[in-house]
Amino acid sequence: MTDGKPAPRRFRSRDWFDAPGRADMTALYLERFMNYGLTPQELRSGKPIIGIAQTGSDLSPCNRIHVDLARRVRDGIRDAGGIPFEFPVHPIFENCRRPTAALDRNLAYLGLVEILHGYPIDAVVLTTGCDKTTPSGVMAASTVDIPAIVLSGGPMLDGWFEGELVGSGTVIWKGRRRLGAGEITEEQFLDLAAASAPSAGHCNTMGTASTMNAIAEVLGLSLPGCAAIPAPYRERGQMAYETGRRIVEMAHEDLRPSRILTRQSFLNAIVATAAIGGSTNAQPHIVAMARHAGVEITHDDWRHHGYDVPLLVNMQPAGKYLGERFHRAGGVPAVLCELAAAGRIDTGCLTVTGRSVAANIQGREATDREVILPHDRPLLHRAGFLVLKGNLFDFAIMKTSVISDEFRRRYLSRPGHEGIYEGRAVVFDGPDDYHARINDPALGIDADTILVVRGAGPLGFPGSAEVVNMQPPDALLKQGIRSLPTIGDGRQSGTSDSPSILNASPESAAGGGLALLRTGDVIRLDLNAGTCDMLVPPAEQARRRATEPAPPIPASKTPWQELYRDHVGQLDSGGCLEMAVKYRAVAEETPRH
Ligand code: FES
Ligand code: MG
Repeated sequence: MTDGKPAPRRFRSRDWFDAPGRADMTALYLERFMNYGLTPQELRSGKPIIGIAQTGSDLSPCNRIHVDLARRVRDGIRDAGGIPFEFPVHPIFENCRRPTAALDRNLAYLGLVEILHGYPIDAVVLTTGCDKTTPSGVMAASTVDIPAIVLSGGPMLDGWFEGELVGSGTVIWKGRRRLGAGEITEEQFLDLAAASAPSAGHCNTMGTASTMNAIAEVLGLSLPGCAAIPAPYRERGQMAYETGRRIVEMAHEDLRPSRILTRQSFLNAIVATAAIGGSTNAQPHIVAMARHAGVEITHDDWRHHGYDVPLLVNMQPAGKYLGERFHRAGGVPAVLCELAAAGRIDTGCLTVTGRSVAANIQGREATDREVILPHDRPLLHRAGFLVLKGNLFDFAIMKTSVISDEFRRRYLSRPGHEGIYEGRAVVFDGPDDYHARINDPALGIDADTILVVRGAGPLGFPGSAEVVNMQPPDALLKQGIRSLPTIGDGRQSGTSDSPSILNASPESAAGGGLALLRTGDVIRLDLNAGTCDMLVPPAEQARRRATEPAPPIPASKTPWQELYRDHVGQLDSGGCLEMAVKYRAVAEETPRH
């Protein structure tokens, strides 16, 4: 301290650009940055170097808006006295990456950790959008623990087709059913899909992308109101500028993820996920982000904090509207106002503003009650994920906010047995087997069948596939049966309106009970007790385990798939690289020369 003022921080980048007694190394570090016009004076001025982790590219169209937004982020960083360094992040595009983008979350995480640890970066702007771009960035920021702020790219504009709102993803699942039932042609299907994606941005439904960006804001990692601003809106560019300015201040304040990400902030995220009708993919991503932040989230946390929460946001797939209306209604701060007033969240949590959640949401109540409902008059009560266990798995979840009245009437309303379903299982080994055989009459699928897919988890697929929302055979669709109960050890798209039982852990390929299930077995689901079991005697289960071959698992096709399988955990524990979780605050010590 001098004159009552704190001494300016010596940033870690100085160890590269101004290392005492290492003029030789310093010259080498500085020279190549000068060849695009930076001067040694500015690099040695003591200003923080701010990374812009660029997730946008031609391969990641959901995040491509960031290629333009980065200009405003840079402006903000410069105006606040920082020096921007933009660099690429491994691309993640949910809809296009084969076999699944789930492989990319941990790969982008690994890459980002190495960049943030090994280069002269003092703080970072995490650009997010498509589903896994948010958790991968947040996970890496925790592992490294330098000041970090999330800048969402924002959803696409609302999609319209023939006077009706059509939301990304959700329109695909609905269109598939109509195609299967013979109601639309393949060309009409493409028109529907195109109409749902009218501009730059990520999915405009409350799918995984909108959910994860909302969660980042709830966690306190982005400026208030950031998540919901549609990508093309003017406010998006303004938010990019303000985010650039703020990260420079955060660098000076040394406001790191470890101060923001606490058990309380993650419990807030779990509550908010239910209130917004968020994606089932939030479950593994929240657990993964928490574990990398050193916070434990148990199965019981989902039961105790995540289920008995009302659905407040009327957005597809659980509701009606899309991203533009959600933003105009007040977005995430307005949802937090409702949850705070009802005492549902801890508003004392610190955020990137340097202030608490309570301070951030002051005066930001909802302005459109059709889209963000009051806590005491919600769309639905007890709308969170229902956690299930039994002899098929130790953990699986069901998104109760998308259980339709028709589904509830048909499967969960037998007089005297409300909430209980029993039915004959038809088992598929992976999505290819499902697609090859679903219309085979020999399977005897009828309105009481439960469809099961296994071999779709982190080890089995590999990566965990979004396939559990299996649609009924065409013959049933033509009779008007739009959905059957489904179970799987994979995931499903956050844009799906299917009340599947998914993320089953341990998966079949890890020796879970699903491996012992056979077509024709009866499954009993009891939503009141939170159980799901195969009605197969233990002796018969033991016989199958001992004498029958385990379900087939495809070989790894790339080096990363093999490495991933060697280290990945199950979905209930976040699908993390287990060896990575122990690394924390790795930037505290500057890497050796
Ligand atoms: Fe990228 Fe939905 S596919 S956000
Ligand atoms: Mg998805």
